[in-house]
Amino acid sequence: MLKLMGPINASRGQALFTFSKNLWNVNSSSVLRATVGYQHALHPRLLSSQSDLPPLPVPPLQVTLDKFLRSARPLVTPEEFQTTQDLVKQFSAAGGCGPKLQKLLEEKAKTTRNWMADWWLRTAYLEFRYPVVVWSSPGLVFPHQKVCNQDEQLTLAARVISGAVDFKCLIDNNKLPLERMGKDPLDMSQYSKIMGTCRIPGIPRDSLQHADPCNPPKHVVVAYKNHFFEVPVYGENGEPLSEDQIRKQLCEIVSGPVKPAVPIGILTSDQRDNWGKAYQELIKDPKNVCSLETIHKSLFLVCLDDPNPNFGSLDKRSIAARQMVHGCGSKNNGANRWFDKTIQFVIGTTGELGITYEHSPAEGPPVAGLMDHVVDVINKGGLKLSTSGCVPKPNHLPFNTSSELQCAIQTAEKNLDAMVDDLEMYGYVYKGYGKEFPKSQKMSPDSFIQMAIQFAFYRLHKLPGAHYESASTRKYFGGRTETIRSCSCESVAFAEAMLDCSKSDEEKVKAMKEAVNGHKKYTLEAVNGCGVDRHLLGLKLIALENGIQVPELYKDVAYVRSSHMRISTSQVAGKCEAFMCYGPLVNDGYACCYNPRANEIHMGISAFKSCPDTSASKFKDALEESFDDMHNVLVKTQKSKL
Ligand code: COA
Repeated sequence: MLKLMGPINASRGQALFTFSKNLWNVNSSSVLRATVGYQHALHPRLLSSQSDLPPLPVPPLQVTLDKFLRSARPLVTPEEFQTTQDLVKQFSAAGGCGPKLQKLLEEKAKTTRNWMADWWLRTAYLEFRYPVVVWSSPGLVFPHQKVCNQDEQLTLAARVISGAVDFKCLIDNNKLPLERMGKDPLDMSQYSKIMGTCRIPGIPRDSLQHADPCNPPKHVVVAYKNHFFEVPVYGENGEPLSEDQIRKQLCEIVSGPVKPAVPIGILTSDQRDNWGKAYQELIKDPKNVCSLETIHKSLFLVCLDDPNPNFGSLDKRSIAARQMVHGCGSKNNGANRWFDKTIQFVIGTTGELGITYEHSPAEGPPVAGLMDHVVDVINKGGLKLSTSGCVPKPNHLPFNTSSELQCAIQTAEKNLDAMVDDLEMYGYVYKGYGKEFPKSQKMSPDSFIQMAIQFAFYRLHKLPGAHYESASTRKYFGGRTETIRSCSCESVAFAEAMLDCSKSDEEKVKAMKEAVNGHKKYTLEAVNGCGVDRHLLGLKLIALENGIQVPELYKDVAYVRSSHMRISTSQVAGKCEAFMCYGPLVNDGYACCYNPRANEIHMGISAFKSCPDTSASKFKDALEESFDDMHNVLVKTQKSKL
């Protein structure tokens, strides 16, 4: 796939951890102007409720370096580790580079309530040049719906739109319950960024356009056979339209053009530089500019998809996962999308329902919150809103395409199809138990699942895998995530013990508890802003911004290997039987996102077919075995104590 991707030769994981030097000949004030500042999308009411949140702390340097050494230890040889220890010593010595950078970072942190927020938006997302499809944008698969024909597809779509508009009203009126982690209130600002937001391609950096919170959008955009339509969702009185009124507009759309449009939406699936160039061509035409503005400013997109291709015996959750992540390619629904839009509801012809979401403005939990609300509305049979008043007509959005654009479309089609062919992805439900079982064993369910994933990787590859888990830092103003480095000496000792026939069950359980508790300790540090990754990234970025050479430590094998996240994971919990899914961070990696419910775990698992070492299907089987083994050994030792 990388060959097809042309000039891009770094992996997604590297994009998060290493940076092209020429991008850094900028000073910090130009950085802040060029990206969208943190507060732009916030409603004034929301901003005031945020005012008490603490600023993101800068961890003490030595604490981070010690943690970094511990996290890198299982991934390097003793000789390599010795070199790394020496480099860390040099880096942290009084008068050395580390203390100098730490001071600069602490100075920066005094001038902002979140020293990482704009940096993160820029480096992890807006400057990332890979396609957002597969490499950045997750899919969220909702519970399967009863849909057998287009009529039912439209009824479902109208209900989804109505439910999502209702959620938007809750956000705007500050009626969402304040979320907490323990007793601490969480930053709720991501909720107000998920609707009315769009990513705009740019070279070398994209930008985010947020709707004006004082003049919020009143329409959504519906994609049907690659055409785009503006659909008003509020009536003349400013009240949300009813489901019936929305449905009438959808009926009007599908009774219109039957011939697919020129697949302009496929451009949004391409590498960002390709799309950025095509975008410049597109906006030469004023008609296109108007259509683009309507898409950018819409609350969200609704994709009325055509039937999926025949996937043979593949189960419907895995098919839905592919539909949500990439639309199954250019010959299917891949162009019936605007991948830059933060929220796209995707509605299939046979009950597939979900969201494709562009990751830059928000993490998964607010999007899962939107899903839960919409699913509630569906399950209740819709909202009972008044249906009086005339129904506005949907407005077709025209696009003119030059020969240059036709060429760009062909390239985007080829690139999307290559990505689709390369991604092996499954929706999977582990039915043996859910989070109640680890709780009954007095272990953290999240840490337990993480250790099962570590064990599965070790079982397959017989070596430790650097492992990324997102931890929320929403306790802090503007907080997004910190990395939990789930691979540790304890996780490796646990996996080895489990596979070692000479170990007793008691020894295996002891190793399991040490690994799970070690992970939980790291989690608590990460949610309190004390991980390794954001701090080390901050020190590197502050060096670059101040014209200071990036320290040797960042080129050392321990840093490089421990940042090459072969396992990319995240817990995105929802109330319903849903799961999030996305592509791996690196070419030889896996992605595994999960929704732990009381008695089962819903997961999205993927790997790239082009990597001969990995297989999503084998990983799924290894994970199932690991969950089973962990359960069995715990139950056996308990029985033996009775
Ligand atoms: N014994 C018994 N019960 C325990 C336990 C133990 N030793 N440890 C934890 N539990 C309980 C908890 O009290 C909690 O109970 P609840 O369900 O009644 O609230 C439950 O188990 C879950 O806790 P745990 O599994 O430890 O973790 P968590 O729910 O706090 O999740 C993270 C951990 C890292 C996933 C979470 O903090 C987080 O950051 N989530 C957001 C991640 C994110 O942003 N992802 C999206 C990126 S796109």
